Amino acid sequence: MWSGVIVFLVLVVLGVQANLVVDLSHRGMKKEEFFVKLQPHINLTQVTDLILTGNQFDSFLDCSTNLGNLHSLDLAENHLQRFFFLCKDEYNLIYLNVSHNRLEYIDDNALNDRVPKLKILDLSSNKLTVINETMLEHMKVLEFLSVANNPIIDIHEKAFMNQKNMLHLDLSNVSATFFPAPLFKTLTKLTFLNISFNPIETIPILPIMLKELDISGTNILFLDNILLPQLERLHMNYMKNLTEVLLNEFENMTMLESLSIERCSILSEFRIWPPNSHILPRLRYLSVEGCALETLNDDLRPIMQRTAVVNLQNNPWHCDCRMQWVNRLNLSSDFNREIKCNSPEEHHGKILAKIPNHELICVEYLTGIYPTIWASITIITLVIIIGIVYLFWKGPLTNWTLPKRGSDTVSYKNVVDSSSNDLIRILVTEDRPEE
Ligand SMILES: *[C@@H]1O[C@H](CO)[C@@H](O)[C@H](O)[C@H]1NC(C)=O
Ligand SMILES: *[C@@H]1O[C@H](CO)[C@@H](O)[C@H](O)[C@H]1NC(C)=O
Ligand SMILES: *[C@@H]1O[C@H](CO)[C@@H](O)[C@H](O)[C@H]1NC(C)=O
Ligand SMILES: *[C@@H]1O[C@H](CO)[C@@H](O)[C@H](O)[C@H]1NC(C)=O
Ligand SMILES: *[C@@H]1O[C@H](CO)[C@@H](O)[C@H](O)[C@H]1NC(C)=O
Ligand SMILES: *[C@@H]1O[C@H](CO)[C@@H](O)[C@H](O)[C@H]1NC(C)=O
Ligand SMILES: *[C@@H]1O[C@H](CO)[C@@H](O)[C@H](O)[C@H]1NC(C)=O
Ligand SMILES: *[C@@H]1O[C@H](CO)[C@@H](O)[C@H](O)[C@H]1NC(C)=O
Repeated sequence: MWSGVIVFLVLVVLGVQANLVVDLSHRGMKKEEFFVKLQPHINLTQVTDLILTGNQFDSFLDCSTNLGNLHSLDLAENHLQRFFFLCKDEYNLIYLNVSHNRLEYIDDNALNDRVPKLKILDLSSNKLTVINETMLEHMKVLEFLSVANNPIIDIHEKAFMNQKNMLHLDLSNVSATFFPAPLFKTLTKLTFLNISFNPIETIPILPIMLKELDISGTNILFLDNILLPQLERLHMNYMKNLTEVLLNEFENMTMLESLSIERCSILSEFRIWPPNSHILPRLRYLSVEGCALETLNDDLRPIMQRTAVVNLQNNPWHCDCRMQWVNRLNLSSDFNREIKCNSPEEHHGKILAKIPNHELICVEYLTGIYPTIWASITIITLVIIIGIVYLFWKGPLTNWTLPKRGSDTVSYKNVVDSSSNDLIRILVTEDRPEE
């Protein structure tokens, strides 16, 4: 029976306020077992933190219990289809976690005006399809919201109308093809936004105070025209369509400290062009791990020199003379050890740092350029020769083939030059036929 069940009652005294935590997680318990059998053994009125993670509740109704002091309710990883707060006028609930459940919609009696103090709400990994304008209307002091991993079809443009205090918003993997322009307008205090793994192609209008943004796994190609002067961390990993990143696009993110562009499988161009050594003055972490980069132009040298951690691992590096400058940089040793060459053949699989610079040669570059030079020289020479030949022949020919007007005839005459005795041919025009 339940009298034998070990119930963890932890009493934490924090000044005058006592936190009473009841942890009943991962017991495979159904709601009947909790409400009917277990509840009489615990005085829930005093409990401030109730942890019911990893059980088999299919719904949660507050009426069967007394949760007057409850601040934190964790119902994650259950089978919830519904939950309600109906029986008390006002709750003190601050934290509610219903992630990893089976919620298809949020009932009107779930997030209502009886729970006005809620600050942290986790709705992630459910089956929600709509975030409409009334779902969160009573959540006026909400600071943290996650609706990640839900198959959402429709987000109303006024869904976050009343969330002026929101600081952290996770909308990753919600199947959104776009975010309506006014959606984030009221979120003036927002510092964290995750919109990763959504098939969006353009970046929405973002709250200006953002410090951390995750746009990984989206189809966004260009980042220009976004104004995020406070941004400190930007994640843009797994961007499948990205072929080129010009760091100049980040020129106005002067507070950026961490930039991660990992596993972008066709990203082959990574540059600062036109060169600008003042871009990203505060950067401390830069990662382009696992992309398709073969070489790095040395317009990146200033930024690499002053960035504490640079991660260039797992790219198909072509270790020729163009990589000598990377070799000379003192990148943080752990990552430098991991820059493996893919080509040319003789360096395949080698660590760049272990190849002496004199062995980083541009063979292909040279063999590529010499034939071109030789071809050009040959073509130019041929053109000159043909030109000379043409001029030589064409000049006299015009004279020979253009007889004088009238019936004048043209004939050759052999004459003996008294001074040189050479036989020369001269062109003589005579009025009469040959003598
Ligand atoms: C629970 O605690 C409250 C307040 O301390 C008290 O009034 C109530 O009688 C207790 N109930 C049970 C079942 O112990
Ligand atoms: C909610 O619970 C899930 C699963 O236990 C956990 O991963 C997540 O961090 C929790 N959310 C919050 C906001 O604490
Ligand atoms: C929002 O969705 C809930 C749950 O599906 C529904 O009860 C409510 O009527 C909807 N609100 C509006 C304005 O459509
Ligand atoms: C994305 O969300 C869907 C449900 O909408 C879920 O099945 C899938 O596992 C999620 N993907 C990840 C990577 O979490
Ligand atoms: C954003 O969400 C994705 C998917 O849920 C997760 O993998 C990633 O770590 C999140 N980003 C941040 C910065 O927490
Ligand atoms: C991005 O790539 C996907 C396939 O991975 C393709 O369906 C989509 O049209 C591409 N988007 C753009 C803007 O190129
Ligand atoms: C940065 O700001 C300047 C001045 O407002 C603007 O002219 C420029 O286009 C911005 N750069 C980018 C990449 O958005
Ligand atoms: C790189 O580090 C080595 C020793 O760790 C030092 O001898 C060398 O001068 C450094 N090079 C540069 C360019 O800082």
